[in-house]
Amino acid sequence: MTSGAESGPGTGRCRVCGGAVAEFLDLGRQPLSDAFLHGADADREFFFRLAVGRCSGCTMVQLMEEVPRERMFHFGYPYYSSGSEVMRKHFAATAQYFLETELARPDAFAVEIGCNDGVLLRTVSDAGVRHLGFEPSGGVAEVARGKGIEVRADFFEERTAAETRREHGPANVIFAANTICHIPYLDSVFRGVDALLADDGVFVFEDPYLGDIVRKTSFDQIYDEHFYFFTADSLRRAGGRFGFDLVDVRRLPVHGGEVRYTFARTGARPPAAAVGELIAAERAQALADPATLRGFADRVGEVRDDLVGLLTGLRRQGKRVAAYGATAKSATVTNFCGIGPELISRVYDSTPAKQGLLTPGAHIPVEPAEGFSAGYPDYAVLFAWNHADEIMAREQEFRRAGGRWILYVPDVRVV
Ligand code: SAH
Ligand code: TYD
Ligand code: ZN
Repeated sequence: MTSGAESGPGTGRCRVCGGAVAEFLDLGRQPLSDAFLHGADADREFFFRLAVGRCSGCTMVQLMEEVPRERMFHFGYPYYSSGSEVMRKHFAATAQYFLETELARPDAFAVEIGCNDGVLLRTVSDAGVRHLGFEPSGGVAEVARGKGIEVRADFFEERTAAETRREHGPANVIFAANTICHIPYLDSVFRGVDALLADDGVFVFEDPYLGDIVRKTSFDQIYDEHFYFFTADSLRRAGGRFGFDLVDVRRLPVHGGEVRYTFARTGARPPAAAVGELIAAERAQALADPATLRGFADRVGEVRDDLVGLLTGLRRQGKRVAAYGATAKSATVTNFCGIGPELISRVYDSTPAKQGLLTPGAHIPVEPAEGFSAGYPDYAVLFAWNHADEIMAREQEFRRAGGRWILYVPDVRVV
């Protein structure tokens, strides 16, 4: 825990370097973002204080409080990675790239941290390449196994990684998407990678990028599961502590803007020019400077006021307002803004594990996505704004029928 009796609210200790973490944004009392609930359980929800700070020692941006991992990642974890066609293609292409490069050798071995329903490892498995996915959330892990994928239903950390090395030998690639930023015990992850990775192997992971979050004021990327908000600069320092060089970076358009980071053992591979370029750009923009982060926090308050103002006005006019995509991100928006069913009557979502339940904290009913076209609202708040192209293309008829989308990233707009 980074906050507690000895440090008090507003300051804490960095989970990476032990330096002082200064809070710059308090998003208040928040539920677990993926804890969709039955109406009868509405008075038994778990809440924590969602606040984010920056380490004065290593610049790493991180949550001030840590939620115990078993509360978030368990058998009923309802996020299924294969729910987006764009993401299915993104991960098939990523797997294909590894098959043609790092894994193009006899007896190659690939490990994925947070393989979820097998959206990426399916391509590796179909190619007959040796692999193992770590996935502590038992329900999605079973779905991956159903696709013929080897899964260890466990958390990746130093101990489990060392066991894997003894059982399977060294890994040529250790990959993770949207998972490393979920893991407060980053030290244990790097030590695990050290134990498991082949001497010439690569550790590659992609996560939401602080540069995009600040630029787009996408404060909904901040929730219980997203513990870290990486920059190339902060990660290069973190990797260095554990014997790894940041040797490549690549910006990705998915999930509102991410970066894919490639690490290799110190001195094993020359860094690509892109690493120095991105770090220089971060410094030129003063990306992780306290003043920049305070400016971001101020804009978050403006987005909240604009969104609540718009929704309150629409209710006064008697408009029917729903939302699209019961995202984890939207828990931060609804709970920070105080938006409940009186402002957004329901959320449409294609995930069976979420349908028929209430959204965490805000208690907005989740209904099957098919219900959207069966009775269009006047307005739909696009909670899954990161999938805007995919969803708006599928639901073209909504605007033709007179409906309008409400977006709040990078600012509040009706389109
Ligand atoms: N890689 C997928 C899933 C991201 S969701 C994608 O990009 O869509 C994050 C996943 O990480 C969840 O399925 C969660 O169960 C898993 N996870 C959380 N902590 C983990 C850990 N220590 N080791 C392995 N997986 C973990
Ligand atoms: P996502 O934005 O990927 O992640 P998070 O929950 O971490 O914020 O979640 C997208 C949600 O939107 C997920 O519940 C599935 C749903 N969805 C649809 O209902 N229809 C769609 O076409 C797509 C792409 C997603
Ligand atoms: Zn630090």
